[in-house]
Amino acid sequence: MLFSTEPKTSLSELFDREMEIERFRMGINERLVLVLGLRRVGKSSLILSVLNSMGIDYVFIDVRKLFDEVSKKIPGERLYEELRIALSRMSLSERVRGVLSSINLSLGTVGVRLSMAEIRGTITSILEALNSLGRRIVLVFDEAQYLRYSTIGLRSILAYTYDHLSNITLVLTGSEVGLLHDFLGMDDPSSELYGRYYLSIELKPFTRDQSIEFLKRGFKELNVSVDDSIIVKAVDELDGIVGWLVYFGKLYLDRGVDAIYEVKEMGAKMVMREVEELFNRSQYYKYIMEAIATLGRARWVDVNRYVTAKVGRRPTNATLSRNLNNLIKMGFVIKNGDYYMIQDPMIRYAVIKVAT
Ligand SMILES: Nc1ncnc2c1ncn2[C@@H]1O[C@H](COP(=O)(O)OP(=O)(O)OP(=O)(O)O)[C@@H](O)[C@H]1O
Ligand SMILES: [Mg+2]
Repeated sequence: MLFSTEPKTSLSELFDREMEIERFRMGINERLVLVLGLRRVGKSSLILSVLNSMGIDYVFIDVRKLFDEVSKKIPGERLYEELRIALSRMSLSERVRGVLSSINLSLGTVGVRLSMAEIRGTITSILEALNSLGRRIVLVFDEAQYLRYSTIGLRSILAYTYDHLSNITLVLTGSEVGLLHDFLGMDDPSSELYGRYYLSIELKPFTRDQSIEFLKRGFKELNVSVDDSIIVKAVDELDGIVGWLVYFGKLYLDRGVDAIYEVKEMGAKMVMREVEELFNRSQYYKYIMEAIATLGRARWVDVNRYVTAKVGRRPTNATLSRNLNNLIKMGFVIKNGDYYMIQDPMIRYAVIKVAT
């Protein structure tokens, strides 16, 4: 069903994305694939649907979930535990189960703190055991830019996998595209992954026409007739991020046209924490985002004027451009010609809410 809120898991449920499906299929034979795009744009759906359609085994790790709010790190133990749980769900031969349990045993008594080196060694052994299965295994790290917080230097394990474990394909997703690139360091000679080839697939929000078509098809599937003008209004307000369109489709059945307003309210609430966290990091982020959100799209001079008025003095060009670039790296802002814009309408609404 198009309006189901879980990630889609089969190709028959996916709307559009033919090109991305084809590219991802090809990518399975590469060493490393990046699947990039805003939150709720459909990264997990693409990956799961294609892997299921090909009958390929995969391990799916949601890295964001492993982030520890107190230490602001991803503890090596959590990563290991998550890998272990993911493996327990896979169908593996007796031989590999045997190897894995002997690795587990080598970890020693529960409660004994493991050194980072031990955890690294164990994770590496698990990956080696998977590689020895002799068939393709896909290792997916969802929101992989968070791996930069890992306490065990995961990048070098990824590089080892890339170089030596040829049955494992690494798939990394990221909504904070610039940060993911920074973490991987493909262009940074000091990175273990320097110069490696990777296939990159970028999922863009649906165009206006695609979004309209998506809603029409979803309602048709449910045998609900909805006036074109309502569909157009919903797309105008909610834009092309499919996750928000799905919420609208579902809510419409209950609330009718008010669903547009409710999705905006709910969406703004859902992203509020992200926005607040961002604002806590720098007042410049706050004022820049406010300037762009209130104007809809803003040029450098507009942002500069707004920030100057709020801070009470003019920021240096270097400060403003550093902060703007960081916002672009984190995926909050895009630059289109001379204009800066906030990509996700829910983030825009949340910023306006905080500002007023
Ligand atoms: N091509 C598609 N056709 C139909 N529905 C889709 C498509 N892509 C995504 N969806 C729906 O949109 C919502 C968000 O999709 P998904 O969870 O795959 O996105 P994501 O980019 O992985 O998001 P997150 O940032 O939350 O991990 C889900 O309800 C999913 O079912
Ligand atoms: Mg996802």
